[in-house]
Amino acid sequence: MQSQITVTKLKKMKEKGEKIVALTAYDYPFAKIVDESGVHMILVGDSLAMVVQGESNTLPVTMDEMIYHTRIVSRVAKNAMVIGDMPFMSYQASKKEAIRNAGRFLKETHATAVKLEGGATVSKTIKAITKADIPVQAHIGLTPQSVHQMGGYRVQRDEERLMADALEVEEAGAFSVVLEGIPAEIAAKITQALTIPTIGIGAGPDCDGQILVVHDLLGLNEGHLPKFVKQYTHLAETARAAVKLYAEEVQSGKFPAPEHCY
Ligand code: KIV
Repeated sequence: MQSQITVTKLKKMKEKGEKIVALTAYDYPFAKIVDESGVHMILVGDSLAMVVQGESNTLPVTMDEMIYHTRIVSRVAKNAMVIGDMPFMSYQASKKEAIRNAGRFLKETHATAVKLEGGATVSKTIKAITKADIPVQAHIGLTPQSVHQMGGYRVQRDEERLMADALEVEEAGAFSVVLEGIPAEIAAKITQALTIPTIGIGAGPDCDGQILVVHDLLGLNEGHLPKFVKQYTHLAETARAAVKLYAEEVQSGKFPAPEHCY
């Protein structure tokens, strides 16, 4: 069995040109499947607000809810690095609050790192958290917590600003950066310019790694899917068919059969 992925191993993977595989997970069964499937990085994303809690954006999820889910995922993960996503308003108000909340992920959930959204505007916060020995993954480009400020989920195309954000979060001490919703060509240039690994989502094939939301990849999310999602299976359909069959068999008396009885 390989040992758990560290920030040093991720940096080496970039240097060797080995692609980093990242995926979200929020609970025991999926974290187990993801961890056992060779994924290097599990993000307990604030996307759980949408795919687990059924909210219309990521803003409502709380620190306590993120801590609850991250603790479950960390308990399962034996190989992958677990990253806790800092929810909206857990790091914006002050550096002190940001450090305390980031610290809760390591202390209370045993995650290895935290992620937070923003570039130059949060670089001082990233610096403060990393100075407290908490590894930080940055997240630039389309940042879902800024949905109202951006006026929707919009692909970000300002190359100069994106490059400046990327360089600034690296300088601030981030060990990795998620590039979301940016043209592939710009993501490739940023990946070349940085020494830390870039993890793309809707940012083309030249990032050092890729991440998706596990519910999207497995076809459990039947709502609107962004262009960058590839559904590798359709679990919602499979699950619905199984539950329908169960309902029919209970009503017809076919289940439970003698082999299910004591
Ligand atoms: O919350 C999340 O799941 C994310 C990833 C999709 C990058 O931020």
